[in-house]
Amino acid sequence: MSISGTTRSDETSVAGHYDALDRFYREIWGEHVHHGLWTTGEESVAQATRAMIDLVADWAALPSRATVADAGCGYGGTSRVLAADHGCDVTGFTLSAAQAEWACGRGGGPRYEVRSWLDNGLPDGGCDAVVAIESLSHMVDKRLAFAQAARVLRPRGRLVLVDWLSCDRPSATQTRLLLGPIAREGRLPSLCTLGEYEALAAGAGLRVLHTEDFRDRAPHRTWSIVGRRLARRLATDAPARRFLLGSANPDRAFALSLARIPLALRTGTLRLAMVVAERPA
Ligand SMILES: C[S@@+](CC[C@H](N)C(=O)[O-])C[C@H]1O[C@@H](n2cnc3c(N)ncnc32)[C@H](O)[C@@H]1O
Repeated sequence: MSISGTTRSDETSVAGHYDALDRFYREIWGEHVHHGLWTTGEESVAQATRAMIDLVADWAALPSRATVADAGCGYGGTSRVLAADHGCDVTGFTLSAAQAEWACGRGGGPRYEVRSWLDNGLPDGGCDAVVAIESLSHMVDKRLAFAQAARVLRPRGRLVLVDWLSCDRPSATQTRLLLGPIAREGRLPSLCTLGEYEALAAGAGLRVLHTEDFRDRAPHRTWSIVGRRLARRLATDAPARRFLLGSANPDRAFALSLARIPLALRTGTLRLAMVVAERPA
């Protein structure tokens, strides 16, 4: 059962969210706008974030000089790692002009397009891998998002996605207090279950090879770190405080999600999981 966000969650509103909050995302999240994965609990944020990218790259089974599409590339953090450390030829797609401009300024090899993944313009069968880290939940038409991955992959090419998902049968309270507001505040048109993503992948003609729920890798830690950074910023920067918390900011409610999301992750209401699927030969 997917949870629907009820405010505007179309591409214009997703782009507006990331463009408006560009400076804060960069200052508070850095170049990687995704969760980290902890194993020992001793890892730094940079190590935990990198663990996620390394896991995605491992599962992508990249051949040498692989052609990769990064669907929802943010500031291009993952794209640059794939280009620099794996020799990949990467094209990143984001809806945010601010993100693409910053990413282009960093160089490092990848190309970036301000263009929807749902209409990506890539040729059929040209990609060895498609990676999508925490971006599909923003997309209105998830069926089309999987269909685009299946279309651009070569036979045996892999889709590796990590995303925010709903637990299987959320109660009315879980939906009202956590999943519904998280979807609305985070510009997520819908939150699917892992089973729904598996079915969407299969429906697009992909074979699901692996799924992994990251609940044992403490992804909620990311939010304590983000929350501390944001609190420091709000305490010391009056213009930032006025902008972020002012009534003119349509994303003001997103601040509430800073409390909701870790709670939802810790209780298993919201899940962070990976799906690896292959285009059959
Ligand atoms: C949470 S950020 C993740 C960014 C990046 N994958 C990372 O891990 O740093 C979500 C990204 O998905 C992008 N996005 C959402 N919907 C998209 C769409 N339909 N087409 C392309 N990008 C999209 C946003 O522009 C944003 O860059």
